[in-house]
Amino acid sequence: MDSLNIRTHRCGEIRKEHVGQTVTLHGWVHNCRDKSQVIFVVLRDRSGIVQATIDETCAQELLLKARSLRLEYTVQIQGVVRARDGVAINKDMDTGEIEILTSSLQILSTTKALPFNIGDKGPEVSQEVRLKYRYLDLRQPTLQRTMRLRHKAALATRTHMDSLGFFEIETPILNRSTPEGARDYIVPSRIHPGKWFALPQSPQIFKQILMVGGMDRYFQICKCFRDEDLRADRQPEFTQIDVELSFTTQDQVIDIANSLIRHVWKSVIDVEVGEIPTITYSEAIERFGVDNPDLRFGMELFDFKAENTEFPFLKAAFERGEIARGIVVKGGGALSNKVIDKNFIPFVRSYKLGGLLWGKYTDKGWVKALSKIEPEILSQIPNVEEGDLVLIGSGPAQHVNTGIGRLRAHVAKTMDIIPKDTYAFCWVTDFPAFEWDEESERFVSVHHPFTKPIDEHIPLMGTDRMGEVLSDAYDIVCNGYEIGGGSIRIHDYELQKKVFTALGLSEEDARDKFGFLLDALQYGAPPHGGLAMGFDRWIMILAGTENIRDVIAFPKTTKAQDLMAESPNTVEDSQLEELYVRNTNDEDSDSDSDS
Ligand code: AMO
Repeated sequence: MDSLNIRTHRCGEIRKEHVGQTVTLHGWVHNCRDKSQVIFVVLRDRSGIVQATIDETCAQELLLKARSLRLEYTVQIQGVVRARDGVAINKDMDTGEIEILTSSLQILSTTKALPFNIGDKGPEVSQEVRLKYRYLDLRQPTLQRTMRLRHKAALATRTHMDSLGFFEIETPILNRSTPEGARDYIVPSRIHPGKWFALPQSPQIFKQILMVGGMDRYFQICKCFRDEDLRADRQPEFTQIDVELSFTTQDQVIDIANSLIRHVWKSVIDVEVGEIPTITYSEAIERFGVDNPDLRFGMELFDFKAENTEFPFLKAAFERGEIARGIVVKGGGALSNKVIDKNFIPFVRSYKLGGLLWGKYTDKGWVKALSKIEPEILSQIPNVEEGDLVLIGSGPAQHVNTGIGRLRAHVAKTMDIIPKDTYAFCWVTDFPAFEWDEESERFVSVHHPFTKPIDEHIPLMGTDRMGEVLSDAYDIVCNGYEIGGGSIRIHDYELQKKVFTALGLSEEDARDKFGFLLDALQYGAPPHGGLAMGFDRWIMILAGTENIRDVIAFPKTTKAQDLMAESPNTVEDSQLEELYVRNTNDEDSDSDSDS
């Protein structure tokens, strides 16, 4: 057997200037064409593809070996680079002006029958199959490009943060519960029976403690773990660019984040990000219904003030103290009624709206349900022209805002009016500090309990105006995705205690949960603040994909499983015993035990 030589080049790098050189290449057989007297083997590696030729000038034994090649065999090819002449030049290939005249071919490994072809647009393969054979899917050119892009974004982040004086510091994975609002993933302790670690939902408390520890400027590209319902932009295990700095203000944190975004967008996809506008939370809700608005298109929400209507359904809604808001879809009259009934209405139902009140404005006036509403009430709908569609939702304010806000983006996608390769960023500021939680019937933090309420609103905490308190918090949004968020923190022990009290947390509970932070705040804590950026979401936007799975090497399914590694899986009973844990879900387990 021939020996493995170290490669001289990557496949996709070879150009005309290499003509005459002897090269050693490694890669996968991407394509093989046997023209009897000559065999063309297209070899692929991470950098691209190149054609190797075995013709009658080569040894007979080489032709025979080439004939035994199958797609995705791993091979070593050595040969001389030669220029292709006129008709043989392939303009669709980066290496199309040359080929390798093969002098040695070594099969390094063979393959079983493939569940799907690589780089082939062929029949659709299900996500399940792709995820089970993730090592094959990772060979696909798109995933190879995305992983490269992800690497470049991480590198650009590190270089930029270093240039601004930030230290990258790791924080523990085996941790205590952190208050980011999702369920924890927990790990039993063998050495401390009955005690558990929690995997960090974010390094929030540790980064604040790093500030108390005088580290001044910290960042980390870190893993966070949240056991929550998954969506197209959510994974249970995801990556943040986590940032914290001392002696800072909201404006400074925003400036630093803007400079990082500009640097990453420029170095990774060569896009200049201009000024990033700021809107307040209440303006975002007013104009777009949601706090992560997609600003690549208009279609802003309007209030439909119909308190005086006799239209029974609306009349009843207003009598219940509900509201109505809607959108004007320019040219939406062209959409079929079926799309509205079978697509848009079920869509808003998933956001707890009963349905939609809608109508098309035609040359004969309003058609469908809106035609039954008093003309003076309809006249308040802004900028309606012939050919437009108007969609209105009514219900409790929060449901209407979210439902119609989300519908706005859904309709824009359906109508295909969202410009491509555009990055519409905005900061959202002046968030409420607390919101009422129907389930637990108490106020909870909108961000987390370490977020500083604005000074003027501190006296409102604990009063019946608690819901009006605004915080020094900010989110950054791009193309409708929340791609980061943070706040100025409370560095004053007494104020932190006050917030816990206002949230209904007893002193013991607060001590039990966050005792070490409360302790640290009493030892000369500097004023500090920061934010965390959703690194996977950045990559989704940079790579132009709408699914977070496309930007993670080994993602989980929406059911939080890894289909390749088959995790989560069962463990040996002996492992559980060692950890003092009993599986109560096991049919064989003691049925009279409820522990
Ligand atoms: P937050 O919870 O807003 O803040 O998270 C910061 C950013 O992380 C991203 N993100 C996610 N991405 C993928 N999958 C998920 N399950 C997921 N959850 C969140 C979002 C979000 O904007 N400690 C605070 C930050 C701070 O205050 O400094 C925090 O974690 O893009």
